[in-house]
Amino acid sequence: MSEKLRVGVLFGGRSGEHEISLLSARSVLQALDPEKYQIVQIGITKEGNWLTGADVIGFLTEGNAQSLSEAVLLPMPGRSCLYTVQERDGEEILNALGGLDVIIPVLHGTYGEDGTMQGLFELADLAYVGAGVLASSVGMDKGVFKDVMVARDIPVVPYRVLLRGVFEEDPERVMDQAESVSGYPLFVKPANMGSSVGVHKCRDRAELSAALEDASRYDRRLLVEKGIEAREIELSVLGNQEPRVSIPGEIRPTAEFYSYEAKYHDQSSELLIPAPLTEEETVYVQRLALRAFKAIDGAGMARVDFLMDRETNQMYLNELNTIPGFTPISMYPKLWKESGLDYPALIDALIELALERRKDKDRTVWTYDRGK
Ligand SMILES: Nc1ncnc2c1ncn2[C@@H]1O[C@H](COP(=O)(O)OP(=O)(O)O)[C@@H](O)[C@H]1O
Ligand SMILES: [Mg+2]
Repeated sequence: MSEKLRVGVLFGGRSGEHEISLLSARSVLQALDPEKYQIVQIGITKEGNWLTGADVIGFLTEGNAQSLSEAVLLPMPGRSCLYTVQERDGEEILNALGGLDVIIPVLHGTYGEDGTMQGLFELADLAYVGAGVLASSVGMDKGVFKDVMVARDIPVVPYRVLLRGVFEEDPERVMDQAESVSGYPLFVKPANMGSSVGVHKCRDRAELSAALEDASRYDRRLLVEKGIEAREIELSVLGNQEPRVSIPGEIRPTAEFYSYEAKYHDQSSELLIPAPLTEEETVYVQRLALRAFKAIDGAGMARVDFLMDRETNQMYLNELNTIPGFTPISMYPKLWKESGLDYPALIDALIELALERRKDKDRTVWTYDRGK
């Protein structure tokens, strides 16, 4: 019998999207075929502590009492396995748990989707699902991401990056700068967040002020954008060097915009798959999604989200999520299902891609030998 692949599934995390990560991870854990994979659950608490054990997901979700161990990953290639930390006679002892063949980071937002965690995997020399350090951090920062899109002639709405520290020092000047982007409505968002946390639609200067203040709670970099009346079109990308793209889907939120409540608590938002677009619009938006993925050196997966102006039908690239939601009702797996790839097959494909990328990394020489 061949050895099963040891797969570490990492979830929770120090992020405003901790709970969403748990929902996604539960589905990923259920979809992993136990005949093929040996699953190692690794949960990260909101404080950033790592835990491992048979049912970490149950502990983080419902607080089930469990025998769990604290766990660590070391940033050294020679020690690329998970260690548990045990206390013995007042001393902390590390116990190697055996190697991991691949890690699936089912983490959304800061310290998971933003390149920091990917940096640890790189240092530890572990194969991992999804984007590398660069694409993760560029995909996470809505400001730098839009700068890259502009450089590649991919349309985005008018925007500007503002700094919290400057806003606090001189709010009137920063609000003037924000108003120079466009007339109202304006959207304000933290540059590094997700799930619509801290996102506000502002109709006047008073709302702008309150929005900048609230968004400042979540990041030191803030984005102000022209608010448009838009349809929300999303596509899934899968692959490394030659990625493929799904059919487009559309979200019709019943709320005024696709807010945190609308995303996770209000079941009345509608998903239309495929999005009712013309053939020409479909092909166009698919090409933009692939170009965006390649522009940031994406890998593995991404969900690419567009705003389509209701009046002009112009497509604007809104954001690219390198670790999209993975619940069974999430757009990313749903789009693949409708494109012919069901959820377990999608997870298999992502693991394959992670291993492929790891293999490719091994071909790179890290030192320069002048004698050769
Ligand atoms: N410029 C904009 N014009 C109109 N609606 C917007 C704009 N920016 C964001 N929105 C609305 O806010 C939601 C959340 O913003 P988004 O940039 O996607 O952040 P998040 O990473 O939190 O999903 C979008 O899905 C959309 O409904
Ligand atoms: Mg979004």
